Amino acid sequence: MTDDASVPRLSRRFALSSLAAFGAVGMSGGARADEPAKSTPPQAPDRTRKSEPNSSHPEPADQPGVTAHPVIKTQSDVLYRPLIHFSPTTGFMNDPNGLIFDGTHYHLYYQYDPFAPYAGHVHWGHAISTDMLHWEDQPIAIDETKDGEAFTGCTVLDVKNTSGLFDTDKGGMAAIYTRATPHKQTQYLAISKDNGQSFTEYAHNPVLDIGSNSFRDPKILFHKPTNQWVMVIAKSRLHQIAFYASIDLIHWTHLSDFGPSGLFGVDYECPNLLEIPVEGGGSRWVLLVSVNPGGPTGGSITQYFIGDFDGSRFTPGDTVIGLTDFAKDAYALQLYDNMPNGEAVAIAWLGNWQYCQELPTHSWRGAMTLPRTLALRHDAAGWLRLAQKPRGVEALRGAEIAFPTRRIAAGSSAQATLPLGGALELVMSVTVDERPHDLPLGDKGRTGRFVIVFGNEQDESLTIGFDAFSGQLWLDRNDLNGFSQPFFTGQFSTALNPDDRHFDIHLILDACTLEIFANGGLSVGTALIFPSNPLTFLRLEASGAGASIENLALYPLKKTMPRETAVSG
Ligand code: FRU
Repeated sequence: MTDDASVPRLSRRFALSSLAAFGAVGMSGGARADEPAKSTPPQAPDRTRKSEPNSSHPEPADQPGVTAHPVIKTQSDVLYRPLIHFSPTTGFMNDPNGLIFDGTHYHLYYQYDPFAPYAGHVHWGHAISTDMLHWEDQPIAIDETKDGEAFTGCTVLDVKNTSGLFDTDKGGMAAIYTRATPHKQTQYLAISKDNGQSFTEYAHNPVLDIGSNSFRDPKILFHKPTNQWVMVIAKSRLHQIAFYASIDLIHWTHLSDFGPSGLFGVDYECPNLLEIPVEGGGSRWVLLVSVNPGGPTGGSITQYFIGDFDGSRFTPGDTVIGLTDFAKDAYALQLYDNMPNGEAVAIAWLGNWQYCQELPTHSWRGAMTLPRTLALRHDAAGWLRLAQKPRGVEALRGAEIAFPTRRIAAGSSAQATLPLGGALELVMSVTVDERPHDLPLGDKGRTGRFVIVFGNEQDESLTIGFDAFSGQLWLDRNDLNGFSQPFFTGQFSTALNPDDRHFDIHLILDACTLEIFANGGLSVGTALIFPSNPLTFLRLEASGAGASIENLALYPLKKTMPRETAVSG
């Protein structure tokens, strides 16, 4: 707990109801009808509330004195539980943290409230895996302490014991993260002598304190050319990413600031920096920055800049910003450290601060994306862009599900039955026919649309469609009935290649998650989905023009997560 025991805590609910009561008294007893109404200036958020550190989202009420809530499992907790995506056993999960390969295991730490399915009381949860798909739960690795919640951060392998904190020259794993209170966000160092199972905080923390309550989410890499550790960290409200250097992980020197640059938004968070290979040769540095709220699709979004990094300063190659997603449920993306051969692999939180605390599960909330390999590729227009692809899912494929046809005539459809409640992968490429000559010009029927429908007998449908005239793809989750909330918007779209009637798509559907990789991974859409009944069929439809399916492979994916799900393993 962050609380000073001498200060009584008020729950937010109590604070709000007393404010409302106060307002009512003021209205009836105070203002006279002939007096001009005094306008009330907007109030700054209440930063004196002890349990709510500065972050881009409000944390909900935690009842005074209550640290554990009973876990009541509901049917939706099972129906929406992913089979191959990581989700917490109970409680609330957001950002991935401390992603690292230790030579044997991949570690996944995560922002975690073990006590309730709401953000708050943040600890670092922990899981390990040998393939980033089968995760084994581990004990909580870093607790909330009297110094604050354990906000987002990273781990590194201090293999040369540069910190001098390890007993042997072989060093070990260190974690650097933000300790957050309502008044301060400072950077803490902790070391692990048991390979990341538990951490002991350095005796003289914080290792970095600039006297700010909006300075967080350190990510560190070892920069070989300058032989030093480099930290990227967000000065959140200033919309700047700061760079610091250190030779021992303890003493940090300010190098430079990047920005303000990119989306306006409210808070800049979770920066990541990595040199990423360009397909066809060479490499460039990519700086990823999460922004919340203020994403163009609403709420949380991750933006990226491509440029160069000389060990002290990041220089973008142009004034363009990229977005990692065209939908709205991939946030706080973090890159794995210490990957063999410099492979760039990332996991993002599959959520959005606009509605993550209201999702229709009750004993648990939060999921991670699948691990994704990142590369840089020139698109059809010559722009260098980030391409993402799911890593390793091929190994989970069961026997292919047959689809009846490879040709869909204009105005017709074909469908296949899906296994009930399982995770699915669809890999497909399609060419829509040329515009038929007898169609009138203008109007939306100028050429064909190809629609992928995942539906059920209760008239729910999830559609992904391709408009061949404009070369755009859409995703529509509006016709699923399991969740509704003002910010849980339903339709998203992305531009593929202009003047191209062909598209390819690779998608993974797993309980409440959908990940779409289109155009070879240049367009990625990540969306939470909540059908109120399982989706039981896949239907492919063509309208305006026929379409030929060059390639179609549909697979059930074998369950990897040891959780109670709609189907057993
Ligand atoms: C991003 C974020 C981080 C912060 C963490 C708190 O989602 O707001 O900036 O460290 O979540 O859980």
